[in-house]
Amino acid sequence: MKTYPLSNGDQMPALGLGTWKSEPGEVYKAIRTAISVGYKHFDCAYIYQNETEIGAALSDAIMTGEVNREELWITSKLWNTHHRKNDVKECLDMTLKALQLDYLDLYLIHWPVAHQKDVIFPHEGNGLISLDKIPLEETWAGMEEIKEAGLAKHIGVSNFSAKKIAQVNQSASQKIEVNQVELHPLLQQKDLLDFCKKEEVILTAYSPLGSRDRIPQMKAEDEPDMFEIPAIQAIAENHNCSPAQVLIAWAVNRDTVVIPKSTNEARLKQNLEAANIKLSVEEMNQINQLDRHFRYVTGTFFALPGSDYTLANLWDE
Ligand code: A2P
Repeated sequence: MKTYPLSNGDQMPALGLGTWKSEPGEVYKAIRTAISVGYKHFDCAYIYQNETEIGAALSDAIMTGEVNREELWITSKLWNTHHRKNDVKECLDMTLKALQLDYLDLYLIHWPVAHQKDVIFPHEGNGLISLDKIPLEETWAGMEEIKEAGLAKHIGVSNFSAKKIAQVNQSASQKIEVNQVELHPLLQQKDLLDFCKKEEVILTAYSPLGSRDRIPQMKAEDEPDMFEIPAIQAIAENHNCSPAQVLIAWAVNRDTVVIPKSTNEARLKQNLEAANIKLSVEEMNQINQLDRHFRYVTGTFFALPGSDYTLANLWDE
């Protein structure tokens, strides 16, 4: 498995298992299966509401000697209700308890969006708190504290633009190490990738397969299906692999981390194997031409009337 170095020499595996939308009741088995077929990297979040079951699977796999804690790379994310500096540890502690771990490899600020502490999913503008009131720098200071305390070996962000990364890093004593964003051939974010390479920020691709299993309220009508794109299908045929594998291989070939989600054994295996598929320069160029800046995860759920959040200031575009 390809890995990417962090500034202290630790190595982040290029492919991890996404767990957003992995349902309680099936995620235990998915994690145990993933470990048995060779996954080492798991991408979690407090808000996915499945960390207790993931923790049970990790703990059982460690207890049976199938894998060591040190071989694993576990990421989780701070939810928007805990953006105040003194709340960061509370959210992390809930995650650590659920995952049955005493440290994370990576902890991310999930969104550049703050909620009232008792509002998990806001439906009205007053459930959100402006970034003027809880600046990202304040949240980052809480993240730095948990890194200094050894509760997370590395810290980073998710859904951040280059502008927000630069803003936070300006006053940071610990720099942002990872940014996790939606990335796939229809949303390539080349400028952000170049910026992150320059700033030594590892970029992680979420929704690499288009997250077709999102709840209907999160889906637009007539969303493009990347598995159906002729260029992707032709490359898949060339490599005798599936379109999903081409999408995963493309992400790894352009030096990003990628976290496809699956709870199905055959697809778990297939996705892991895809990290080793080498695409030719010509194939990469063909895929590079598919970009149309299309988001599956639009962020409209945060752009609520009566709040300061808009799609323009969420994505800075
Ligand atoms: P399943 O969990 O049943 O395998 P994303 O990673 O972009 O969020 O996409 C996840 C969706 O893609 C899920 O619906 C998942 O279904 C499906 N999926 C994961 N791997 C593959 C694959 N190799 N081929 C087809 N569909 C896949």
